[in-house]
Amino acid sequence: MGKTILTGVKPTGAPHIGNYIGAIRPALDLAAAHEKSFLFIADYHALNAVRDPAALKRDSYEVATCWLALGLDPAKTVFYRQSDVPEIFELTQLLAAVTPKGLMDRAHSYKAAVDKNREAGRDADADVNMGLYTYPILMAADILMMDTDIVPVGKDQVQHIEFARDMAGYFNHAFKDVFKLPEYKLAGDTGAILPGLDGRKMSKSYNNHIPVFMESKARRKLIMKIVTDSKLPEEPKDPDGNTIFQIYAEVADENAAREMRAAFEKGGMGYGDAKQKLFEALEAAFEQPTKIYNDYMADTSKIDALLAEGAEKARAVARQTLARARAAVGLKAS
Ligand code: ADP
Ligand code: TRP
Repeated sequence: MGKTILTGVKPTGAPHIGNYIGAIRPALDLAAAHEKSFLFIADYHALNAVRDPAALKRDSYEVATCWLALGLDPAKTVFYRQSDVPEIFELTQLLAAVTPKGLMDRAHSYKAAVDKNREAGRDADADVNMGLYTYPILMAADILMMDTDIVPVGKDQVQHIEFARDMAGYFNHAFKDVFKLPEYKLAGDTGAILPGLDGRKMSKSYNNHIPVFMESKARRKLIMKIVTDSKLPEEPKDPDGNTIFQIYAEVADENAAREMRAAFEKGGMGYGDAKQKLFEALEAAFEQPTKIYNDYMADTSKIDALLAEGAEKARAVARQTLARARAAVGLKAS
């Protein structure tokens, strides 16, 4: 039997090229290569931190649109909003009943919040809400609900998948085998970390990122800002220590990338030329996705319709899992 892939994305604004290469593209490739796949917008997870309803709504549309524009096929991958599948929240409560408090105390994200408070001389639990504290239980429910085999995630999420496995084990041991034990797969484990405009890791928090979706003019301006050394065009350069080439190698086709590498190594490739080539490669790679993105964002009712269909499919699976779990603990399996 084929494996089931599932991953969730928090609606936190538009992705940059680092997110695309390191997380979105590998997850889409994995979904395409497996029989069953689920991808959802983790809006209840976002709610622990968001207090602006308009932003939550906008960012949820935005993230849905990005994934659709970048190649998610809703006919193949079940694509839904977490908040449209109420069964997940009931399963969260069933899992909470078998989850030791100590497990939550050990969660990295909770511990990081506590450490920050201690350093600032505040009460250890200042600004920690129960949503943040029990975040891993909701996440386990997301995963276990769909009989997931593999969860593609970034490094920071590995502990959460291990916790989901633990919770599946506690439940199966206390009652009977209801849940499959999921495994994580580091989404970016084959690829490199993409550098940003200043040569550090591309990241929203360094504000050195290149958004995936942008107008051509703005994109060109940004590419021209990539920091380089002051080597002359004729001098040989190391392509692997060079931001322009590292991004180019991920978005251009293989032959073009090989040519740029050779030209840098031999000498004769100036940074200005290379930036122009990178700009053209990004334009070519994202022209079609940008059209799709603009179309969906101009008419969000299309996204609503797609997500409603996805929620129906997700709920059909969820109802079965929940019925199994309710029956196992001695509740009426309604
Ligand atoms: P940011 O640093 O911009 O806040 P996130 O930490 O939200 O990005 O990253 C989301 C996902 O994108 C993670 O799975 C991470 O592995 C991937 N990612 C982020 N930045 C990069 C990068 N510069 N190169 C490769 N992958 C990245
Ligand atoms: N916690 C994940 C993140 O911050 C998002 C997420 C929620 C998720 N539920 C999930 C990821 C289930 C994988 C599986 O990125």
